[in-house]
Amino acid sequence: MKLANFLIATAIATLFPGALTADSSSYLICASCHGKDGLGMKLNSKWLAPSLHTSKYVTGDQAELLTALILKGIAKDDARYSQPMMPLEAILSDAQIAEIVRYTTQEFGGQLRDVSADDVATWREQYQDQALPWHRSELAAKLSPEILSELHFTLYPADQAGGDIKSSDQPLRSGGIASNLLSAKPLANLDRPAVVVYEGLLNLTQADDYEFRLSAGPGSVLKIDNETLGRLETNGGSSSLRVRKGFEPGSYRFELQFVASAETPSPELTLRTRKTRKSFTLHETATP
Ligand code: HEC
Repeated sequence: MKLANFLIATAIATLFPGALTADSSSYLICASCHGKDGLGMKLNSKWLAPSLHTSKYVTGDQAELLTALILKGIAKDDARYSQPMMPLEAILSDAQIAEIVRYTTQEFGGQLRDVSADDVATWREQYQDQALPWHRSELAAKLSPEILSELHFTLYPADQAGGDIKSSDQPLRSGGIASNLLSAKPLANLDRPAVVVYEGLLNLTQADDYEFRLSAGPGSVLKIDNETLGRLETNGGSSSLRVRKGFEPGSYRFELQFVASAETPSPELTLRTRKTRKSFTLHETATP
């Protein structure tokens, strides 16, 4: 049997991305230093500003920090740059900043962050006592961890596709997978069904009710901190499940196992929170 290559994508998505717009006009002020294409600009030997495509404040789930950085600017600590990033709080409205956050995260970060003018107003008030621009080290210390980090996989031989999960102690293959849109091919060049186990850390920054939705082949199991949160029946039955559980802030051991074969659908896991309206998806797409 020929097993397809798989693409793993983790993405932090907003619940209703279709309802939002991201207009470019307010971004023009940023473009004067970061360039229209967001790739940064160089003048003689010094940079006017770095690329936004590789910035964690833009690619990550960091709308609040990105807003705070736009409001206060960044001090000139780094000799690579010809000037600081100036504070823009006095000249940009809440609506303009919200537009900029949506535009930059969609265009350069690959994932639109749902930020409203009201969100910006709240953050503007929250940071109002900060008179000086940020230092890089202060910003870096505030970066919250990614929802899923240190993700890696291990492949075990499966005796029967779609049957019980039978893991041997001898993995066929294992490897690391960085989180955020990254392709991995754990199943490439394998000619028999395998059990794939993904393990990593689930980093939850706030107490909330979290809803896990898993759709995958029979026998798939989702575990958090070694406790089985959900399991799809091994014989027929439903191919999806929904579990809701309250978690305190912290890092939890995440494990998802499933049997990979031509007959089983690609697994898809979505994590939603009630308060924050965020959702997170881990899915595999078979590519020919
Ligand atoms: C006057 C030029 C200038 C303007 C205008 C400007 N920036 Fe910057 N920006 C910089 C410089 C310089 C840095 C790098 C500062 C450092 O790292 O020391 C920077 C850094 C950043 C970073 C952090 C990048 C990283 O290292 O991860 C982000 C995000 C960012 N800017 C977004 C914006 C946005 C959005 C706008 C428009 C609202 C904007 N900037 C306007 C000069 C500018």
